[in-house]
Amino acid sequence: MAKITFITADNEEVIVEGTQGSVMELAVQNNIKGIDGDCGGVCSCATCHVHVNESDFEKVGEPSEIEADMLELEDEVSEYSRLCCQIKVSDAIDGITLKVIEE
Ligand code: FES
Repeated sequence: MAKITFITADNEEVIVEGTQGSVMELAVQNNIKGIDGDCGGVCSCATCHVHVNESDFEKVGEPSEIEADMLELEDEVSEYSRLCCQIKVSDAIDGITLKVIEE
């Protein structure tokens, strides 16, 4: 079980819980504003861009090469950027906070 806090673009804090799938899927199921998941999670749309809270970044780890290439095309990229369809929901990421970056 992982508890994840999303901070939406209008600064609303939404806490969701999940056990499986990707963080993007969990966000879409919970109607998190700004996470659209247009490509269905295959790392080709970047509508699931988030900034991971600095102190949580170790839990989610660095993006893969494909993901990093995709992120390069984005505005508002930071060293804590991830595409959350590429983050698996698991105990390992329990307690993380993600800021939603809207297009
Ligand atoms: S859902 Fe398309 S890149 Fe993540």
